[in-house]
This record gives sequence, C-alpha cells and structure tokens, in this order.
Amino acid sequence: MGYRIAVVGATGNVGREMLNILAEREFPADEVIALASRKSLGTEVSYGDKTLKTKDLDTFDFTGCDMALFAIGAGPTKQYAPKAAKAGCVVIDNSSLYRYEPDVPLIVPEVNPDAVEGYAKRNIIANPNCSTAQMVVALKPLHDRARINRVVVATYQSVSGAGKEAMDELWNQTKGVYVPGQEVAPAKFTKQIAFNVIPHIDVFMDDGSTKEEWKMAAETKKIVDRAIKVHATCVRVPVFVGHAEAVNIEFEDPLSADEAREILREAPGIIVVDKREPGGYVTPLECVGDYATFISRIRDDSTRDNAISLWCVSDNLRKGAALNAVQIAELLGRRCLKKA
Ligand SMILES: NC(=O)c1ccc[n+]([C@@H]2O[C@H](COP(=O)([O-])OP(=O)(O)OC[C@H]3O[C@@H](n4cnc5c(N)ncnc54)[C@H](OP(=O)(O)O)[C@@H]3O)[C@@H](O)[C@H]2O)c1
Repeated sequence: MGYRIAVVGATGNVGREMLNILAEREFPADEVIALASRKSLGTEVSYGDKTLKTKDLDTFDFTGCDMALFAIGAGPTKQYAPKAAKAGCVVIDNSSLYRYEPDVPLIVPEVNPDAVEGYAKRNIIANPNCSTAQMVVALKPLHDRARINRVVVATYQSVSGAGKEAMDELWNQTKGVYVPGQEVAPAKFTKQIAFNVIPHIDVFMDDGSTKEEWKMAAETKKIVDRAIKVHATCVRVPVFVGHAEAVNIEFEDPLSADEAREILREAPGIIVVDKREPGGYVTPLECVGDYATFISRIRDDSTRDNAISLWCVSDNLRKGAALNAVQIAELLGRRCLKKA
C-alpha cells in the first residue's frame, strides 16, 4: 500500500517540479492530488507521463491524505496548513512560515535527517530557504571535520526563486530592452532586473540586512549548529534558474582546501567540479534539472587562519525547494509512517 500525497501549489514553479520529482524518483504513491487556487481549477499539470487536473485547495478535505507538499507562500499556508495537519496529514512546507518555530523540524535530509522524528508535535515539517539548502549540504561535512566558526557568503540568486511572475518579468523586460515602446517597468522587483543585479531580496530588517540574509543565518544555525555565525549578502541576478554562492568559511581546527575537496568528493548530495582551468567549474545554467549541489573553485584563503573559499551552485527549484521536500517525504515515509 502506497501513500496518498497532495501537492499544494501544483501550478507554480516549485509545485510543478515537485510533481516531476515525485514521478522521476518513483515515490511510492497510490494517489497524487494536484491543488491550487480556485482560478486554476481544472488546469492540467504533468505527473510523469500522466496529466492531473488541478483541484481547488479551498474546498479540499485532507482527511485520508498521508502527506501534503505545500508551495503556496506564507499567507495562504497560514490558512490551509493547520487544516491539513489537523486532518492527520503531515505538511511539508516550503514557505518561511514555520521554519523558526522550535516545535517544527527544519530539515535538509543530507544534514539533519534525525530531526524528522519531531514531525508529530505539529504534523508540520519545514523546508529551508533555497540559498540555505544548497549551502548547508556543503557546510555539514566540513563542519564535522574541522568545526566551522564563521561563514561569509554572497549569493547570486535566480529570478525563479521569486516565483513564475518574476520569471515572466525578466523575460519580457529583456525583450523590451530591444523593442522601442515595449519597455517593461519593474513590478515584482524594485529595479530593472534585465541586464542588472539587485542587492535586495525580501524585506529590510532594522540592522540594515535583508530578511533573506537573516534567513540564511538563522536556518544554518537551526539545521547545522547554533555556534556557526553567518554573514550573508543576497543578490538577485538575471538568471532564470540556478542559484550560485561565493562562500568563505573559517574553521576552529586547521583544514586545507585540498582536504576540503577530498571531504566534499565523498559527501552526500555534492558533486565536486574543480579543475583549475578555463571552464573547470559549474555555472547555474549547467545545474538546471540536476539533483546535486556542485562545488567548484575550492581554495585556501591566505588572509585568515584555517579558512577556505568555494563556489556553490544548485538548481534552486530542485535542491532549493522541490527535491528537498520530496527527500523529506521519502525520509518521513521510511522512518516514521512506514506505509510503503
Ligand atoms: N522558487 C524557489 O526557489 C523557492 C525555494 C524555496 C521555497 N520557495 C517557496 O515555495 C513557495 C512557492 O513558490 P513558487 O516559486 O512555486 O511560486 P509561484 O510560481 O508563484 O506559484 C505559486 C503557487 O501557489 C498557488 N497559490 C497562491 N496563492 C494561493 C491560494 N490562496 N490558494 C491556493 N493556491 C495558491 C498558485 O496557484 P495559482 O496558479 O492557482 O495562483 C501557484 O500554484 C513560496 O512559499 C516560496 O517562498 C520557493
């Protein structure tokens, strides 16, 4: 007997990838239900070689569903996730709503799989922010070896991280640059994103950082170790899919770049591509559709003791969202629900 699983936000960027990944990984589902807003009622979405018709989340009864993968943003999640959880369905949520609540596990399966046992407190598990997920996959094996003190990271985040309307804005604005009279004003972003970069993701905090930067610090602490300090600068770039990060890491104990490379080569979820030659590294375009987090440009930082730098790239819709959520569902099934 398999699972009855709902994908909530099935018409969105992340929801569509969830359906793709459930099919690709042959998730043991007896039934997959696609849910979205009422305006999408009947919209067809792909699930492997099948087509599912989207149902209205507002009138859906979660009773009898084992799990629901939510990808609808914090506002509607607040309305619908508690209903699903109360009906006995375990919610695996992609929004930021529950990530920092002490009784909700925040999980990256390669890093803190044991946290899944805590799901039953609320029947909710949180998925981290896309930029955190790929970074902690790389940090964890290095932390286990040499204890990380501090991380300084600059992100290069694709527009798909801001949803499907943001992707349309980059596409239309890029075309509009070339066609007089068809210029497209910023709407999802604060400034033109075509041929530009914007050092601002999510709202500003009192200390001058943005919420996206704060999330990377808070989530790394919750997932890997409270002792790790993270200083992030998060930047939106005119790339459709794939987030990149330039990461500088300081350790308590000595660790060379060569040792780090060997550790990362063995680490789950990581592929090291680090040839010190033109093209010997991975860029966002090349990671699209892949499951792995790619690590390149691993080198010693000669300006600090016990410090290295590296370049970290992953598909934000996959490891940063949908893949991680499906991995959590697999983990929950294997360790806790034990149905299939
Ligand atoms: N994109 C990423 O890299 C990423 C990474 C980590 C986490 N996340 C999180 O994942 C969530 C979804 O992101 P996305 O990029 O997939 O957004 P998106 O492409 O804009 O899609 C949003 C989805 O939510 C549905 N939705 C919105 N309001 C709804 C409501 N009131 N009732 C029912 N359905 C509703 C939409 O349905 P309709 O089509 O019917 O409107 C659509 O399916 C967000 O919380 C985001 O922060 C995204």
